[in-house]
Amino acid sequence: MHSILAHHSPATLPQRVAGLWARAWQSILMQATKKKSPPLAIPFLAGRREEQGTALLPPLFSGLCPQIIGAYSANQLHFTAERISALVNYSTSLPDSFLMAGGGGGGGTAPLPPTSSHYHHPVLADEVDEWMDAQPSDVILDGTLGGGGHTEIFLKKNATVLAIDRDPQAITFATQRLSAFRETLHTFQANYSQMAEHPQLPADGKVDKILLDIGVSSHQIDCAERGFSFQKDGPLDMRMGPNACMSAADFINESSEREILQVLREFGEEPQARRITQLIVERRKKSPFTRTGDLAGTIEQALGRFGKTHAATRTFQAIRMRVNEELTLLQSALEASVALLRPGGRLLVITFHSLEDRLTKQFIQHRAKPFIDDPTWPAPRENPEYFLTLPMRKAISAGSKELSANPRARSAKLRVALRNDRNLPTSYLS
Ligand SMILES: C[S@@+](CC[C@H](N)C(=O)[O-])C[C@H]1O[C@@H](n2cnc3c(N)ncnc32)[C@H](O)[C@@H]1O
Repeated sequence: MHSILAHHSPATLPQRVAGLWARAWQSILMQATKKKSPPLAIPFLAGRREEQGTALLPPLFSGLCPQIIGAYSANQLHFTAERISALVNYSTSLPDSFLMAGGGGGGGTAPLPPTSSHYHHPVLADEVDEWMDAQPSDVILDGTLGGGGHTEIFLKKNATVLAIDRDPQAITFATQRLSAFRETLHTFQANYSQMAEHPQLPADGKVDKILLDIGVSSHQIDCAERGFSFQKDGPLDMRMGPNACMSAADFINESSEREILQVLREFGEEPQARRITQLIVERRKKSPFTRTGDLAGTIEQALGRFGKTHAATRTFQAIRMRVNEELTLLQSALEASVALLRPGGRLLVITFHSLEDRLTKQFIQHRAKPFIDDPTWPAPRENPEYFLTLPMRKAISAGSKELSANPRARSAKLRVALRNDRNLPTSYLS
């Protein structure tokens, strides 16, 4: 143990490693304090692996907290009270920026990286800044906090931000990263469809502006333990937060053949849906799927690759959308947004998927029509849902500069709508 502590200070350890280091120790120490029962058990940090040098630290630290805590509970190694207090001093001497968020919940416990760009690079940031036009008097609801990149833009303009994310890791990470704005940032772990339940809503229950940046964050995809990636093996999970109704493994192993087929067709728009479904159903008879690598490999083996695209791409996307009920929740969030915005308020929605964009486009275009018509009617009628106006009809996409810096922005589409001053009927959300 002593060799790393003795030979490295925050200044000599790379920041990422130092952050992971500090976070890992904080977890151990918190456990120790709760249990008040030294000697503590600490696995490999106290043992021979530390002698292998700092080159091994990043892989070593990946998933460290759960392993340490697991080994601690199993009482494998002992640690003296003296060493604990040295560690407490060390970890509390680190600057805040070195300390990691994360752990606990959301189906993933991997340590998180220290900067927003590692966590998630906000897409269409300039366009969101321009269209949101945040003012110091604004109360802005960000329904998809993620790493807090967009929220930070609004906070820097002195707006108050009510932020929501269903992923506890995102809430912890962004709250810590944006701690300088603790007076004006109010986070709430929930589905964005529950935005009207945010505990810090103004007295009249209305907000000035809303942002929804739909989908998964880079952190969620990149973190193998979250089970979203077909490129990195991990548990077949894909839950964005603890409120998801099932894991990907539950869906794949327990759903009927018909349901899997329907999900692959509807959410994945997968041309090979029937073949992949049959493959899954045959394979799971032998043993259930538990790992992303297993599912991705089974599909790839049977189908091969389509150019650069992995054969499992659409299947993974479809399962993720089903497990997290993404389209249903988007529809509810759009309805909730219309109810929550003040007259003149703005709604900005960023989507990455054609089904989500179609849903958003149809939702806002329908509500921007004063009159609606039907061939069976003698004349057009007033639209009872005319609550929006559209400053532009087309979606905004990323420019070439952003695309070269952030290829994940290639399918991003931003749509903007303004709330008109018509009152909602009381029946609107019931
Ligand atoms: C694309 S990221 C947002 C990134 C963020 N705008 C930024 O600048 O870092 C999407 C985030 O929305 C969250 N999310 C997805 N569906 C959600 C839902 N139904 N309710 C609340 N949060 C959700 C995800 O957990 C993820 O953190």
